[in-house]
Amino acid sequence: MQTPQLETERLILRPLALSDVPAIQRNFDNWNIIRHLAAVVPWPYPADGAETFVRMQLDKISAGEELHHWVLVLKGGAGEAIGNIHFRPYADGAKGNRGFWLAEPYWRRGLMTEAITAVNDFAFVTLGLDHFHVCNAATNQASRRVKQKTGAEFVGFIELAHHGGQTKSEKWIVRREAWLRDRT
Ligand SMILES: CC(C)(COP(=O)(O)OP(=O)(O)OC[C@H]1O[C@@H](n2cnc3c(N)ncnc32)[C@H](O)[C@@H]1OP(=O)(O)O)[C@@H](O)C(=O)NCCC(=O)NCCS
Repeated sequence: MQTPQLETERLILRPLALSDVPAIQRNFDNWNIIRHLAAVVPWPYPADGAETFVRMQLDKISAGEELHHWVLVLKGGAGEAIGNIHFRPYADGAKGNRGFWLAEPYWRRGLMTEAITAVNDFAFVTLGLDHFHVCNAATNQASRRVKQKTGAEFVGFIELAHHGGQTKSEKWIVRREAWLRDRT
């Protein structure tokens, strides 16, 4: 299914486009973001890091892979991408089906919780999924809180190397039944 534009009270979640490259490069090239991420992300972040990544994601989507990738845009703002959420609903969830980050100036305002609420609705109401998995570095308290606030149940720990040195990841499951029950 094509990725729809989603809307929340304060945000537009719009499908990733090549024109988002400069904003992603500017906002993502930040150790305070990267240190929480799996070590597969290149660091130091190359000057063409965002372009390489965006082209790779768009190629996968054009090739028919079930991959949904949104950029977060503030309503009433300049229209720039201030964050990303990618979601692979049918992929093997061993290391999680979803990833997200938000530009540091916008942290702690509830924005990612708001965005993930819309993505969970998409997953369970639009796609009709039964469940999916999500992960975060065991020391990533902000990501853990977003998960706790958006219906995730803790499953256990897996081994995963992160840039900040953390080798453990918390694994969670998000289930449709619980999501729909708690939304009403
Ligand atoms: C994770 C991230 C997307 C959260 O975005 P956000 O919009 O700030 O999240 P929200 O405001 O919706 O919720 C954050 C929650 O974490 C809490 N929090 C944030 N930093 C914290 C910290 N250092 N210690 C404890 N709690 C923290 C906030 O208080 C809030 O919880 P509350 O509503 O109960 O007070 C953002 O911090 C980020 O991009 N981090 C770097 C990249 C990353 O970690 N991505 C996820 C990889 S799994």
